[in-house]
Amino acid sequence: MSGTPALELKAICKSFGQVRALTNVDIAAFPGEAHFIVGDNGAGKSTTLKVLAGIHQPDAGELRINGVETSMRDASQAHRHGIAVVHQDLALVECLDIATNMALGAIPRKRRFILDRRRMEREATEVLSELKIRVGSVRTQIGLLSGGERQIVAIARAVRMNLPIILLDEPTAALGVRETAHVGEILDELRGQGKTVICISHDLEFVFAHADRITVMRLGNTVATCLRGATSRDEIVGMITGTITASTANAGTQ
Ligand SMILES: Nc1ncnc2c1ncn2[C@@H]1O[C@H](COP(=O)(O)OP(=O)(O)OP(=O)(O)O)[C@@H](O)[C@H]1O
Ligand SMILES: [Mg+2]
Repeated sequence: MSGTPALELKAICKSFGQVRALTNVDIAAFPGEAHFIVGDNGAGKSTTLKVLAGIHQPDAGELRINGVETSMRDASQAHRHGIAVVHQDLALVECLDIATNMALGAIPRKRRFILDRRRMEREATEVLSELKIRVGSVRTQIGLLSGGERQIVAIARAVRMNLPIILLDEPTAALGVRETAHVGEILDELRGQGKTVICISHDLEFVFAHADRITVMRLGNTVATCLRGATSRDEIVGMITGTITASTANAGTQ
């Protein structure tokens, strides 16, 4: 692949006390591509995403944004670097309604201090309808929504930020077949707009339908990155379970 990755990790290590969550992680994600991260439970996928999102600071290794080595102290710095995140635990506030949750971090105000409720609701409604998402009223409390509806709201919130890089941790975990296909369409559209999409998923059917590149993680390491068209489901499963290693993989790793 030519060009500079929008987001890149090189030889990243991260421990939590005695737990070595990441021992050697390399990943390079390019603009206009959907890059999926797959791996078993505990492989280090969410930890990797949190390093990319500025939430965890690596113990060693490099983080590069548009080719420039960078360190991020916290999530707000990642935001300033153009990175939006949908976390596995969604990070929504249950007692607030849909419109407020979608505006968190960028609440519209009038005369500096007063919350512009009408604008907030109008903007939330616009984003949801642009994404063809139906959740009833934007005044509905998040706590009253189903798991799938919450997931859709969390995705809509990240899309609303309109940042060049979007990271998603298991965005379809709680979704039915139709909603999963819908999220797939949203991802396709984002990469079509030239955004860099990094997405964790256990759903290999979804991965093969929407990925340009697939990175396999196992036991805190990246095993390999494969071009979607140059690998197979069997090969990816083999790398996830450890029956195939990067050196024995025969197709399209890079
Ligand atoms: N804050 C933390 N403190 C201690 N250990 C952690 C912390 N975060 C992650 N870990 C550990 O790091 C390892 C990797 O966890 P991580 O959440 O990155 O896995 P994952 O690949 O996202 O798994 P899953 O598919 O279940 O979401 C696990 O052993 C986990 O227990
Ligand atoms: Mg996880």
